[in-house]
Amino acid sequence: MTQRIPRTVSLDMHGDILVATIDNPPVNALSHSVRSGLRDAVAAFEENDAARAMIIVCAGRTFMAGADIREFGKPMNEPLLGEVIARLDRCGKPIIAAMHGTALGGGLEVALACSYRIAAPSAKLGLPEVKLGILPGAGGSLRLPRLIGAEAALSMIGEGRQVSAEEALANGLVDAIAEGDLHRSAMIFARRVIEEGARVRRVSDLPIPPHDPGVFASARAAMAKKFPGFAAPQRAVDLVEMAMSSPFSEACDREYATCKELLSSPQSRALRHLFAAEREALKIDGVSADVRPRDVRKVAVVGPGTMGRGIATSLLNAGLAVVLIGLSDESLGKAKAAIAKTYENSLKRGSMTAGEVEERLGRLTLTRTYDNLLDVDLAIEAVTEDLSVKADVVRRLDDALRDDAIVVTNTSFLDIEEIANSSRRPHNVAGMHFFNPAHVMKLVENVRASRSTPDVLATITALARKLGKTPVMVGRSEGFVANRMLSKRTREAQFLLEDGATPGQVDRVLSGFGFPIGPFALADLAGMDIMAAARAARLSRMSEREKACNIVDRLVAAGRLGQKTGAGYYRYDENRRPSLDPEADSIIAAHRQERGIAAREISDGEILERCLYAMINEAAKILGEGAAARPGDIDVIWTSGFGFPSYLGGPMFYADQIGLRNIKAALERYSALVGREYFQPAPLIEQLAAEGKGFYG
Ligand code: 3HC
Repeated sequence: MTQRIPRTVSLDMHGDILVATIDNPPVNALSHSVRSGLRDAVAAFEENDAARAMIIVCAGRTFMAGADIREFGKPMNEPLLGEVIARLDRCGKPIIAAMHGTALGGGLEVALACSYRIAAPSAKLGLPEVKLGILPGAGGSLRLPRLIGAEAALSMIGEGRQVSAEEALANGLVDAIAEGDLHRSAMIFARRVIEEGARVRRVSDLPIPPHDPGVFASARAAMAKKFPGFAAPQRAVDLVEMAMSSPFSEACDREYATCKELLSSPQSRALRHLFAAEREALKIDGVSADVRPRDVRKVAVVGPGTMGRGIATSLLNAGLAVVLIGLSDESLGKAKAAIAKTYENSLKRGSMTAGEVEERLGRLTLTRTYDNLLDVDLAIEAVTEDLSVKADVVRRLDDALRDDAIVVTNTSFLDIEEIANSSRRPHNVAGMHFFNPAHVMKLVENVRASRSTPDVLATITALARKLGKTPVMVGRSEGFVANRMLSKRTREAQFLLEDGATPGQVDRVLSGFGFPIGPFALADLAGMDIMAAARAARLSRMSEREKACNIVDRLVAAGRLGQKTGAGYYRYDENRRPSLDPEADSIIAAHRQERGIAAREISDGEILERCLYAMINEAAKILGEGAAARPGDIDVIWTSGFGFPSYLGGPMFYADQIGLRNIKAALERYSALVGREYFQPAPLIEQLAAEGKGFYG
C-alpha cells in the first residue's frame, strides 16, 4: 500500500534562489510530512545547479514550533528529525532560515542547522523542550552554545527561556532582523550571501567558545532553586557541559539518547499531559469553535477592596480601560494608591517605564456612582461575599449597563445561580473567580451559570486569556473546584494536628511531596484572622468534629495571627524566617486535652495520603456532579493555581499513577480510622475502581 504524504513543503524558484515554504497548520510542527518534505527540499536544492541559495520560510502564524508533540510515544516514521537536520547541515550550498512567530524546539534546531538565520522583529526563539520534561534531541544543545556561548545557552535550554529577535541578534543567534516584510528581507539577505560567494557556514564546525567551567555548577544550583523536583533542567546542564567538551558527532548521539530517555520518563509524561490538558481546557462544552467572543474594551470593577484592586490592575496591564466603582472617596483613593504602589515597585524593578505607568493609570477612572456606564462592555463585581449585597450590585448594573453588556461575579463560595437570577438578563451573567493577588495569580475559575449564553462563556475565556491567565470553566458547586478541594485538605491537616502530628511535620511532608509551601506555613502567610473568618463563614455547614476542631480560633485568641504578628503555627524573626515554636505546640496539646484526644505517632505516609486522597475523593465527587467537565481541567486548576507539582501532572493524573483501586482501599482504611463521612469513596471512584479504570480511562 502506498502511503499518501500530504504536501506540506512546497518549492519555488525566484531567479537563483530556491524558497521552501512549510505549511502545516496550526503551528508548522515538524510532523512526518514536514520532515520528509524538508529532506526532499535539500535534495532538490543540491540537484538544481541554477539554485545558489535556499530560504526556508513558513506560512501561517509561525515558523516551526517544534517536533510534532502528537507523534510522541508512537513509533516514529523516518526520516527522524536528527537525520533531516544532519542533511541540512551537510548541504554544500547556503540555506537561510527566515523566522517569524515562535521558532521553537525542533523548529529552532532546523534554523540552527542552516548557514544563516534572519528573524522578523516580533519573532521569539527558544528551546522549550524542558517544559515538556525533555531536552532538545536534534543538535540544539550542541549548536546553540557554539553559537551564543555556554552561559546564554544554559538559560535557554535549562529554563526554556525564549529570546526576542533583538536579543538573538545581540548574542549571535540570528544574523539579521528583517526590515519590513520577512520574505522580502530574506530574499535581499540571500542575494547578498550569493554576491559574497555563497559561503556555507556550519554551526557544527564552529569552535567551542571559551567559557568559565564554574558556570555549570552555578547553573545546577540555580536550576535546583528555580525548578525544585524537576529532572530535565539538571540534565540540561549535564548535556551542555558534555557538548562543550565532546566531539560534535559523539555529542549528537548522546544528546539524542538523553532526549529519548527523558521522553519515556514519568515527569515528561506528566508535563505533556498538562500541555494537552491546558489546551483542552479552553474547549468549552456547548461552545463551538465558531462562537465569537464579544468585544471587551472597557470594564467596570465594582468593589475597590483587595480583589477589586488586583482585578483592576490585571485589566489595566492588559490594555483595557477600567472604571472602578466604590462606596466612598476614601476607599477609592486607597485602591488607587495601592495600584500605583504596585506599579511603583515594577518601576523600581525596571520591569516598567515611567511612561508605561502613567499610561496605565491614565486608563483608570474612579467613581462612586453607576452613572455613565453605557460604554462599558463587561462589569466584574468584587464586593463583600454576601448574597444580598451582590444581588443589589447586579441589579444596579442591570440598570446602568447596555443590554448586551456582561455581568461577571467574582464570588468564591456563593451560589452562581442565585446571583444570575438576581439579574433581569441572567443569560449575560457568569462568574470569574480570581485568586488573590489577582494581578499575579495565573488561575481563573470561570463559572458558567445554567443560562449563560455560549458567547458570554467565550468572552470570559477570551478575556482571561487576554489578561495572561489560565482560565478553566467550572460549574455550580460550593467553592467551585480549587477551594472545594482545598477545604478537604485543610480539614485533614487540622484533624492531623488533633491526632498527634505537628505543623512542622505536616508541612515537611507536603512540601517534600512538591507543594511550594505547606498548609500551616501558608496559613501563617495568609494571616490567621483570614483563616478564622473563612472558617466562621463555613461553620454552619461543618461536621461536629470540624466545628470542635478550632485550633485556628485558639491561635487568634492568643494573638498569633501568623507572620504579621511574628507568630502563628511557627515563630518568625525580624526577617520573617520561621522556626518551630513550643508555644504553638502547647496550644495544640491543650486543645487535644480538652477534646479528650490522645496524641499518637502519625507516619509521613498517613499525612500524605489523608491530605491528598481527601482532595482526590472530593475531585471525583465534583466530576461526578459535572461541576468540572474533565479530569484534565482539575489538573490544570491545581497545577496552575495551587502549586501541585506539574511534574506529577496534577491530582487526577497522580491518582491514576497510584491506581484507583489503591486509592479506594486507602479511602476505606481512613473511613474506618477518621470517619466514613470524611473518607467514604466517591461513587465515581467506586465505579472506576470496579471497572479497573482510572480517571483517564
Ligand atoms: N506539536 C503539535 N501540535 C502543537 C505543537 C507541537 N509542537 N505546538 C502547538 N501545537 C498545537 C496545540 O496543541 C494547539 O492545538 P489545538 O488547537 O488542537 O488545541 C494548536 O497547536 C495551537 O497551539 P496553542 O493553542 O498553544 O497556540 P498559541 O498561539 O497560544 O501558542 C505556541 C503557540 C507558542 C507554538 C505553543 O503552542 C507552544 O508553546 N507549543 C509547544 C512548543 C514546543 O514545546 N516545542 C518543542 C517541541 S519538542 C521538540 O521540538 C523536540 C525536538 O528537540 C526533538
